[in-house]
Amino acid sequence: MQLNGNQPIGIFDSGAGGLTVASAVKKLLPGEKIIYFGDTAHLPYGDKSFETVKKYALKITDFLLEKNCKLILIACNTASAAAYEAVKEKAKGKALVLNVIDPAAEYVAENKNLKKVGVIGTKGTISAGIYTEKIKKLDGEKEVVSMPAPLLVHLIEEGFIYDNISNAVIKHYLSDEKLKNIDALILGCTHYPVIKNQIRKFYNFKTTVIDSSEIVAQKLKNILTENNLLNNDKQTPRHEFYVSDYTDFFETLAEMFFDEKIKLLKKELP
Ligand code: DGL
Repeated sequence: MQLNGNQPIGIFDSGAGGLTVASAVKKLLPGEKIIYFGDTAHLPYGDKSFETVKKYALKITDFLLEKNCKLILIACNTASAAAYEAVKEKAKGKALVLNVIDPAAEYVAENKNLKKVGVIGTKGTISAGIYTEKIKKLDGEKEVVSMPAPLLVHLIEEGFIYDNISNAVIKHYLSDEKLKNIDALILGCTHYPVIKNQIRKFYNFKTTVIDSSEIVAQKLKNILTENNLLNNDKQTPRHEFYVSDYTDFFETLAEMFFDEKIKLLKKELP
């Protein structure tokens, strides 16, 4: 594979959630150019079949490969669960691929004090049991309990953040018996870090809340370093943001998540 450090990094999600990961990448690796794709025309992924999610993920992969990305980061848990192997196959010989689930699973496995962990995510991610499978493969002693929390994506995409409505929904999901006495909660959906502090508050700041965006950014840095692919161009990169459909609120939300002025471009998937 003939890659060079000056190529961009492609990051995608069903919507704005992946910007929580993109923003962590920007903070840790300010020299890297990011090409972001939010598949807003098909959001949410979490309620769709894995076959359908895989189909979208492969079309986005084609687009990011056309954009000459050196690495594709699947910044969506649902797409990571449904399409990681297929995206890797498609990008073989052309770009490296990273998902958001493996780094979080490794983090849990390495932290010996985390004996029982909870995971919340979309219906797709949770019903696939992928966190349980990956964590247990690394450390069979861990207890993993999981819970779908599908309403949260809709609330976040609609801007119901830090208000009574999101508080009530968080309480509804997290009070479930299943999630009792956990040592940590994995935010298994890239939208959730937006309401991380509300979730931490639910636990009175006593339970560890694992936001995988920083863990994933660190993993990305390690991969680029190992492959000698860090960008050493001294210029500040100009990131690009694409959506498959414009929605009223997306730009505002995107600027809030990504912490800079964003100009959205529309790119329909074929
Ligand atoms: N942000 C995505 C994830 O991490 C999913 C949101 C959706 O349902 O589209 O799973």
